[in-house]
Amino acid sequence: MIILGIETTCDETGAAVVERTGEAQGRILSNVILSQINEHAAFGGVVPEIAARAHVEALDHIISKAMAAANMRFSELDGVAAAAGPGLIGGVIVGLTTAKAIALTHNKPLMAINHLEAHALTARLTDATPFPYCLFLASGGHTQILGVRGVGDYLKLGGTVDDAIGEAFDKTAKLLGLGYPGGPQVEKEATRGDGNRFTLPRPMIGRDDANFSLSGLKTALRIEAEKVAPLSDQDVADLCASFQQAVVDVVTDRLRTGLRLFRERVGTPSALVCAGGVAANQAIRKVLHRVAFEIGTTLVAPPPALCTDNGAMIAWAGAERLALGLADPLDFVPRARWPLEEVTKAEPEEVLAE
Ligand code: KG4
Ligand code: ZN
Repeated sequence: MIILGIETTCDETGAAVVERTGEAQGRILSNVILSQINEHAAFGGVVPEIAARAHVEALDHIISKAMAAANMRFSELDGVAAAAGPGLIGGVIVGLTTAKAIALTHNKPLMAINHLEAHALTARLTDATPFPYCLFLASGGHTQILGVRGVGDYLKLGGTVDDAIGEAFDKTAKLLGLGYPGGPQVEKEATRGDGNRFTLPRPMIGRDDANFSLSGLKTALRIEAEKVAPLSDQDVADLCASFQQAVVDVVTDRLRTGLRLFRERVGTPSALVCAGGVAANQAIRKVLHRVAFEIGTTLVAPPPALCTDNGAMIAWAGAERLALGLADPLDFVPRARWPLEEVTKAEPEEVLAE
């Protein structure tokens, strides 16, 4: 089964062709991505209107490139998938409308994919990870701990009540005059800083739920920075290291709790899986390994290019859904907000024979 996938929910324009060869088995035939980072960097964050316009300009070309690299014609596809939310609605409309046009013109099934579901299922494409597994999704827009029980069957075990972790890294970088996106810059500074110099809070640690809160940490960091301003290079490095250490401590505690909840509500996980740009952070990745080891499981970390937003994950999610007979109508409405719990799953009689 060969699927074209389109991703336009944030600041990456992505198109990819993926072949599903069997249960949790697939191969990426092409994966083309165009990042808009340069267009947003001057504003210190993603500007929705600029993002939507950039998707309009780039998408046709990116799709042509993905089809050519896979050596495919539209007529040879088994279906077309696009991220239909959650995300910046202008971009989502661009991607979904384009997918609908291709599906209509070539008489192919359309899969309107939840972007979070695509992140959640990537580990099956990259590592053939069997259900159920525990997913830690941490990006610029999302921070969630999920029980992934099956396609369309997700249990939210925890999430942020305010900022996403990546957003907190980005805001920290902006406050300290580092570039956008902030995560890699803060991580780089932290390597030469003293993580114990500034006393920062560890919000939510010890709570029974697996939720996160990052906005207090960011405020505390600003207060500490104001106390020592003007900031020397060493001050900046020490602030970054102290911030990152606080995040690492929070992630460790929240994931331990999330995995306990997973055992209570779902059972034994086949793996701890991470996704999202934040998983590129080496200090965070180290504790993910440790926490997985503690409960006798392993960490599955897809390669960074597939952890961050891309078209291949959308195509794969489309393939997983089409294999279960879960295509969507051409009048599917794009959704700025779309919690994973609202994603549909196959009813037993809908499941097609393999
Ligand atoms: O998944 P992603 O590429 O895009 C979405 O947000 O969907 O994640 C980008 C986020 C940004 O907030 C960025 O600062 C953060 O991931 N990030 C990092 C690192 N690399 C990227 N955060 C911490 N450490 C990193 N090395
Ligand atoms: Zn994402």
